Amino acid sequence: MNMIHIGDTELSVRQEGQGPPLLFVHGFPLDHTMWNQQITEFSRDYHVIAPDLRGFGASALGSEPMSMASLADDLAAMLSALQVTRPVAFCGLSMGGYIAWQFWDRHSDRLDKLILCDTRAAADSAEAAQGRRETATRLLRDGAGELIEGMLPKLFANATDNAAPKLIQATRRVMESTQLQTIAAALLAIAERPDFEPRLAEITVSTLVLCGEHDLITTVEEMQQVAAAMPNARFKKIGGAGHMAPVEQPAAVNRAICEFLERRV
Ligand code: MLT
Repeated sequence: MNMIHIGDTELSVRQEGQGPPLLFVHGFPLDHTMWNQQITEFSRDYHVIAPDLRGFGASALGSEPMSMASLADDLAAMLSALQVTRPVAFCGLSMGGYIAWQFWDRHSDRLDKLILCDTRAAADSAEAAQGRRETATRLLRDGAGELIEGMLPKLFANATDNAAPKLIQATRRVMESTQLQTIAAALLAIAERPDFEPRLAEITVSTLVLCGEHDLITTVEEMQQVAAAMPNARFKKIGGAGHMAPVEQPAAVNRAICEFLERRV
């Protein structure tokens, strides 16, 4: 892991391999280790870059307010600091996807391809956003137990619950070790994110949209609609997976990403 100084903070970044740059951006409230099985696979042929977003994992939170746009700007600054000048394939899961929309909007010169896993383009409803703000206030007072116990059962498909309890424990440990200040800041930032649905038709970059068959948070139906609204996107359902498809079904996810990256479009 390298520590990269950018602006008001330091980001912890795992880099492996050589080749075209492939950036993996984790979900909430997780860190780069959710991509371990992709890092191993793709570092054979790609320059894999897997940061911990500010405040998550081993990265510092910094002092600036957090938004999905500022997290996208952090990634662009990180790529400059790493001297990655070639446009990247950007692979984001859930919150990582919310950041991907902003990266497309603000740093399109740095973007070659998009891989959107288990995410959505729509903003929160007013009710959902209010719920996130209330959760942020409560967790700073009472800790993250309620959020983690509420979220964990929705992250994985039943098959994963039964077959791979260690994966779930590892995810729980990452969630439990995330600082409360970061979780609260990210909840507020997610609640404020803009609606990208009206802009999907403008996003002409070559895109792969992946979704776990049993994803309860961002559903197959919703992600199929996202892909259909984008002029150059294809959709792939990942059988036997929930919201954490790259963790739960790495072979199928890696195959889909590999086929997508190798096909010149
Ligand atoms: C994530 O996995 O990043 C979260 O589920 C995003 C969200 O809460 O909207």
